[in-house]
Amino acid sequence: MTLRKITDGVFWAGAIDWSRRLFDSLIPLPDGTSYNAYLVNGEEKTALIDTVDPSKTHILMEYLEDVPTLDFIVSQHAEQDHSGAIPAVLEKYPSAELLASQRAIPLLSSHLGISEDRIHAVGDKERLSLGSKTLEFINTPWVHWPETMSTYLIEDKILFTCDLFGSHLAVSGLDEPDFSKVSEAAKRYYAEVMMPFRGQIRKHIERFAGYEVKIIAPSHGPIHFDTERIMRSHLEWISDGNADSVVIAYASMHGSTETMALRLTEALSTRGVKVELFNLAVADTGKFAMSLVDAATLVIGSPIVLTGAHPLVMGAAFMANALKPKVKNACVIGSYGWGGKMAEQITGALSGLSLDWLPPVLIKGKPTEADYKALDELAVAIEARHRRARS
Ligand code: FEO
Repeated sequence: MTLRKITDGVFWAGAIDWSRRLFDSLIPLPDGTSYNAYLVNGEEKTALIDTVDPSKTHILMEYLEDVPTLDFIVSQHAEQDHSGAIPAVLEKYPSAELLASQRAIPLLSSHLGISEDRIHAVGDKERLSLGSKTLEFINTPWVHWPETMSTYLIEDKILFTCDLFGSHLAVSGLDEPDFSKVSEAAKRYYAEVMMPFRGQIRKHIERFAGYEVKIIAPSHGPIHFDTERIMRSHLEWISDGNADSVVIAYASMHGSTETMALRLTEALSTRGVKVELFNLAVADTGKFAMSLVDAATLVIGSPIVLTGAHPLVMGAAFMANALKPKVKNACVIGSYGWGGKMAEQITGALSGLSLDWLPPVLIKGKPTEADYKALDELAVAIEARHRRARS
């Protein structure tokens, strides 16, 4: 395989995973993904920045067939989709030095079976000269593991950011899909793994402003040659001020809770409030996560199954709690047959968020005219809260 040139001496050596449809046994990948590795050739030394998922090791090794010597392997992130091929690369280049952040060392050791003595820690702002090319390591923890770091190639003004600014798309790093497609995939990825760490992302972006960055090279999806555009998108997503939609996520067994969810959707829409509605029995969890990026209010709808909330609803509540979105208001709606602790379970599952709860709308059996009125009043209350937040 032929290395793909980015600039003189800098190459993309990644693997496209066309058919992967699930990450972490949880996250849907509708457009596959890619694992970007980068080769940097200085006049004296050569470094590989990150590797690929273990399932694609053979592709990386084909790229490296014509690379006679490798002096350094830079591991920016110990998660296996980027570190998984390191053992094979070390086997081919036994004298290569493996570099990582201090916090990455035990993670690389425990995940890949590499002796800690084999890994050399690099510090924040530490520089490595390859001769005519200089790498500067920048600690960027918690995107989305504690050990993550970025690497700045000074002469070419390229910032390698691993998962940060990445997108799950089955493209080479040098492909340039329409930005609306890249932005959607990047937002999905941000929502699924980065959203809880938006405070750290803000600090990292502020810090990157101190570097002249012409190219951002993440480890999933296309390279960003318009660096402002992708940074702007992330700044919008992490911003505290722009969440104004309502997310309604529900499960329904015999249609009553669904009827309630649809009525509330209609009542909100007619008042000009943006709603995203998810029937959890068929919803894409990635889209649900994305919707939370811009949500000011989360409404969870559930029937009572046996004596509690529907398991799909609890899964969605658990996910929302873990993703720590900016959402400020919440409410439970739903229908029951004979009673149970559904609302208490849902509020408990969301206890990690700082939420201002609206009174629940819980009904017995099919909705009546009085129940529809209660849902219309809920829509009025939600709209009022959104209006107050804007003023
Ligand atoms: Fe792409 Fe956190 O691994």
